[in-house]
Amino acid sequence: MKEKLVIIGANDFQNQIILKAKEMNYETHVFAWKENAIGKETSDYFYPIDIKNKEEILMECKKIKPIGVCSIASDLAVNTVDYISRNLGLTANSEISNLYCTNKYEMRKQLKKCNIKVPHFEKVDSIDKLNYNEFKFPLIIKPTDRSGSRGVTKVYKKDECDNAIRRAISESFEKMAIVEEYIDGEEYSCECISYKCQHYFLAFTKKYTTGKPYFIETGHSQPSDIKKEFYLKIQKEIFKALDALKIENGASHTEFKLDKQGNIRIIEIGARGGGDCISSDLVKLSTGYDFLKMIIDVSCGKKPNFIKCNDLQKVYIKFIFSQQDLEELENIKNDMHYKIYRISNMNLENIGKIKDSSSRVGYYIYTIND
Ligand SMILES: Nc1ncnc2c1ncn2[C@@H]1O[C@H](COP(=O)(O)OP(=O)(O)O)[C@@H](O)[C@H]1O
Ligand SMILES: [Mg+2]
Repeated sequence: MKEKLVIIGANDFQNQIILKAKEMNYETHVFAWKENAIGKETSDYFYPIDIKNKEEILMECKKIKPIGVCSIASDLAVNTVDYISRNLGLTANSEISNLYCTNKYEMRKQLKKCNIKVPHFEKVDSIDKLNYNEFKFPLIIKPTDRSGSRGVTKVYKKDECDNAIRRAISESFEKMAIVEEYIDGEEYSCECISYKCQHYFLAFTKKYTTGKPYFIETGHSQPSDIKKEFYLKIQKEIFKALDALKIENGASHTEFKLDKQGNIRIIEIGARGGGDCISSDLVKLSTGYDFLKMIIDVSCGKKPNFIKCNDLQKVYIKFIFSQQDLEELENIKNDMHYKIYRISNMNLENIGKIKDSSSRVGYYIYTIND
């Protein structure tokens, strides 16, 4: 009889882990909202239950008796994955770790407590509460508990703060905003896998965003352009931060900025794989490591293996925002220097109307032919 794996989430980005689990010969049991659930078709068993509904999912899982519970890249799924795993006695991170990793204020507090350099920050629940004298502009104002750049704004002076705080609070689930000083530098992320408190570095990703004021991701590439001589210093700081946030098992995605001297400042850490196809595709294409298999293995209590399973390639993912981006895609398709790896479905009605990463039109992944 096949072993059973529970997967939380079933949209286009999550679908890759369902396909990997099937390739690994697991019977897949997938929980997600029905809307946009590609996994409804690809999984063996699909349960149309809101992924925030932990109790109902746990009840079903007690009947399923899986050997692991996992997801790839959803902040919303993290709490549920770990809650179910803990209750079934499977590999998981702790409840306190989940709090640190899903609330930007709790994360900053904990990093600071563990001597990791953080920008000055404060949490506010209304526009009157901010102690301006403590801050050096520019600032970033964002919801404490959202993702995908929702409600994030960069502000340069006092009279821009009210609107930004209102915007952040309105997006926040707990109706709180975090205000923090702006960190300069180039932006990257670090993809790691942890197993029994041991962290393993997999890749650095260079990140491209729309920049101020809203910082929506426009693309990512691997390998990054970080100088090799900075690698150890950066990894050391990130492993220290993973320990601070008590990330013991599974994937992590650390977003950070780097100055010219290789000094790292952390933006945020997710106890999950990077979204935007970073963990599902980019890591494997650029490093040869089967990251999805590692995520599944760790969720089942098995040590990840580091066998390389393909040639290393330079890989990009680009997101479509405009007509011009679609034209660029056509050029890349026709250029023999590039090889298209995947093109997503396109929501053309969103052109010119993008306000956060979930409303982007679509994406394509390509590698460079040597
Ligand atoms: N303190 C900061 N300094 C500089 N840029 C920041 C800061 N906080 C956030 N950003 C920018 O905003 C983006 C989104 O913020 P982030 O905290 O990652 O929220 P989200 O959960 O929405 O991804 C970051 O990737 C980064 O480009
Ligand atoms: Mg982020």
